[in-house]
Order: sequence, then structure tokens, then C-alpha cells
Amino acid sequence: MNTRVFVSLDVDSADAAFRLVEPLGGEASAYKVGLQLLTAEGPDVVQRLVAMGKQVFLDLKLHEIPNSVAGAVAAAGQLGATMVTVHASAGSAVLRAAVEAARAYPSLQVLALTVITSLRDEDLPEIGLAPSVVVQVERLARLAVASGCQGVVASVQEAAVLASVLPPRTLIVAPGIQLGSTQANDQSRIATPALAARAGATHIVVGRAVTRAADPLQAFREVAQGFDAPRNNRKVRKGWLTA
Ligand code: C5P
Repeated sequence: MNTRVFVSLDVDSADAAFRLVEPLGGEASAYKVGLQLLTAEGPDVVQRLVAMGKQVFLDLKLHEIPNSVAGAVAAAGQLGATMVTVHASAGSAVLRAAVEAARAYPSLQVLALTVITSLRDEDLPEIGLAPSVVVQVERLARLAVASGCQGVVASVQEAAVLASVLPPRTLIVAPGIQLGSTQANDQSRIATPALAARAGATHIVVGRAVTRAADPLQAFREVAQGFDAPRNNRKVRKGWLTA
């Protein structure tokens, strides 16, 4: 049973989602449900996963006024989600509203999104941000933690910086994970499970590397073992990117 590796259910139906969940059996205990599956199937799919004893990371990517964000976070708590995401760029009032709404659901943790991982430094000027992704990620992560968020979502490359500047118990959830042998798909910033762990990620999100593998259970095991190997090592190693 693994609750530190979230398998991302990026599919368009509950049937397709449970076709991914079933072969992973009891070994995969945590799943990410995002906007595609939630919009297609509604909350029932989350409730079914929770009823199976799975942890659900509800990736709502909220960016709204505080009142609306609070309502959505409470709805996520009602469903039994254990993680929900809010964009830190919405500002501290929104982040605090999310954290406040989650208080009624002790197992629900609010994660802040910093900069979506498909953005590169050269993409920032067109949306009015400067000077670099890493600076923006650090700024927003600090804001999120100061506002009470339990964790942040960040690429593995930024996890290394964040692990060194955020309080030790902050959750750092890293997507963009690939097994060494798979294609980088459309991601600009990628890393293996072991690199994520060494960089200080406390959790990882893995989608296609598992769900599109010829043998998803074997791929999941590879991801989980890779992530567990350097377990508890939150020190940032010099040169980890090339390790
Ligand atoms: O790429 P993969 O299929 O592993 O993506 C799984 C999930 O991780 C996606 O739903 C997406 O939300 C997130 N992701 C991300 N940044 C990336 C790659 C994936 O936020 N670079």
C-alpha cells in the first residue's frame, strides 16, 4: 500500500478510471482526480474511490474569489478528498479562505499550485511575470505556507529549492514524473521518481508513465520503489539533476 505516489486518472469516464485502478490492486492507494474526470463523471467517482479505501487528491486548481473557493474546498472535504489544490497566484485571502474551509475536514490538506509545470522562463513575460519560473515558484510557495497551506505542488526541479526554503513539514507534491525509459511526452520539466525523492518531494503524481504502460502494475512498482529508495532524504544534493 502506497500513499505517497498518486496515480493520475486522466481519463474521460468512470469505467476507464476503474479499469486503471483495478489492476493496481491494493498496492496503489492514492489517486489524483482532475478536471477531466470530475467534469465527465461528477463526484460519484470520488466517492467510489473513497469507499474503496483510496486516498483522493482532488485537483480542482481553484482560482476564484475567497467565498467560492471556500465552498469548493468544503465540497471536496464532504466527498472525502484528502488533498485539494488552489492557485497561490489567487492571493493570500483566497489561500486563507481555502485553509479555513478545510478545517472542518481534518484529513483534507490544501495544496497550493505555484506555476504550472508547462511554463518555462521565456513564457513568463507574456503573462506579466518575471524574472524566472523558480523565483515565481518560491515567492508563491512562501505565500502559500504563510497563509496556512499544508503543501505545494511543484516540479521536481523546483522541489529542490522549496525543500530548502520551506518549513520541514511542508508537503511537496511533484508531478511530471517519468520512468527513465519513457518518452518525455509534452512536459518541459521532467524527472524520475528517485530524483524527485532526492530533491525533497514528499509525494509524487504519476499518470501516463503508469497508465499507458504495457504492464501498469509493474510500472507502478518501479515508480514506487524508485521514490522510496532515497526515502526521508530531504537534503538537496549538489548535482542531483544529473545524478
Ligand atoms: O504526465 P502525466 O501523465 O504523468 O501527468 C499526470 C498529471 O500530472 C496531470 O494530470 C497533470 O495535472 C500533472 N502534471 C503536471 N505537470 C507536468 C506533467 C503532469 O502538473 N509537467
